[in-house]
Amino acid sequence: MKKLLLALLVVPALSLAADAKKKEAAKPDPKVVAEGAKLFTDRTCWSCHGKDAKTPIMPAYPKLAGQNAEYAERQMLDIKSGTRANGNSAAMKGVMGLVNEAEIKAIAVYLSSLQ
Ligand code: HEC
Repeated sequence: MKKLLLALLVVPALSLAADAKKKEAAKPDPKVVAEGAKLFTDRTCWSCHGKDAKTPIMPAYPKLAGQNAEYAERQMLDIKSGTRANGNSAAMKGVMGLVNEAEIKAIAVYLSSLQ
C-alpha cells in the first residue's frame, strides 16, 4: 500500500519534470540565435529573403521567419547537396557554398526564433 502511494506521488512529479525539460529544450539558445542572426546578415541571405526573413524580393522566393529549425536546416542541407533541386534552387544553391553545416544549424535556429 505504501509503495502504491509512493508511486502515485512520484509518477506525476517525474512527468512534470520531463515536461519542464521539454520546454527548456524547445527554447532556442540566445547565443546560437545571435550567431545565426549575424550569419544571416554577413552571408547576404537577407538580399533575397528580406532583412526580417519574411519579405522576399519576389513572391517566388520563400519567407523563412518562424520556420521550424529542423525543417529549415534540412532544406538548406538538401539544397547545398543538390538533393533538393527545382526551378528555384539554383539561386539559393550558390549561396549555400558560403555556409558550413554548423553555420546552417545556427541560422536555422535563428530563423525559428523569429515571429
Ligand atoms: C540569390 C537569392 C538567395 C539568397 C542570397 C539566399 N537564398 Fe535562400 N532561397 C532562395 C530561393 C529562390 C529559395 C527556394 C529554393 C527552392 O525552391 O529550392 C530559397 C530557399 C531557402 C530556404 C528553404 C525554405 C523552405 O521553405 O523550404 C532556406 C531555409 C533558405 N533559403 C535560407 C537562406 C539562407 C540562410 C541564406 C544565406 C546563407 C539564403 N537563403 C540566401 C534564394 C536565396
